[in-house]
Amino acid sequence: MKKIVCLGSLNLDHVYRVDHFVRPGETLSSAGYSVGCGGKGLNQSIALARAGAPVMHAGKIGRDGGMLRDMLEKAGVDVSLVAEGETPTGHAVIQVDAKGENAILLYGGANREISETEIDSALDAAEGGILLLQNEINSIDQVFRRAHDRGIPVAFNFAPFDPEDAARLPLELLSYLIVNEIEGAGVAGVENPEAILATLKSNYPHCRVILTLGKAGSAFLGDDGTMVTIPPFPAEVVDTTSAGDTFIGYLFAGLLEGMALKEAMELATRASAITVSRPGAAESIPFRRELA
Ligand code: RIB
Repeated sequence: MKKIVCLGSLNLDHVYRVDHFVRPGETLSSAGYSVGCGGKGLNQSIALARAGAPVMHAGKIGRDGGMLRDMLEKAGVDVSLVAEGETPTGHAVIQVDAKGENAILLYGGANREISETEIDSALDAAEGGILLLQNEINSIDQVFRRAHDRGIPVAFNFAPFDPEDAARLPLELLSYLIVNEIEGAGVAGVENPEAILATLKSNYPHCRVILTLGKAGSAFLGDDGTMVTIPPFPAEVVDTTSAGDTFIGYLFAGLLEGMALKEAMELATRASAITVSRPGAAESIPFRRELA
């Protein structure tokens, strides 16, 4: 089986349970607080590993980030390219409201100090496999270009979305782009799912685009140019944090196993339905045996 290298963020998630998201000028008491492992990169690596895929994580933490490396290692992720530096580990302040929706504030920290040498090591490791990225680390544009020059397929989850990055990043070099409806609309400049997929296909003909639609499931463009929709799997929503990351990890685990895209997306949909039914980020991601 091909391997996957996830070059991505590792965050300490400070999670607050709230009745509603705090408003400008408001002081709000939280009903609960916990610190857990997160970061879109770490979550996606954990999802890949729990799905049974061979995965290496590359990224950076500070001296305070040992629990993140430990969690990855315990999940079976190769952590030999998780570097440690002097800048504090990235963190997220996450409010989860009564409906299970979240609002996330990020501090990049060590995630934004990945050196050229560390990027080169990740590319070396990804030779012959796939490189998976999210938009929470520095030098994404350089990584796209260097990976493309070396013939390494790149999968990019454009989250968090930033319009300036959308204008600047060479998205035409990607093999896979995974976006939600808001991110997809930001990149394509059109609103509805079908138009987003058609526009992205015409702008980036060599890139496979996967569109996640929240409560409406997910979609991609079939070979005949029509939209194929994967319906959602019913779930009692407790906390939506890392549902998208679970989807991506399971999606690529399925593809590495040789599944067709639709089949891999169905697997990913089942996995993320379990994630939303539990609190937390990385810890809420299911093991493959739980999907039976
Ligand atoms: O996708 C969820 C993740 O986004 C959280 O774990 C948080 O750290 C942010 O990166």
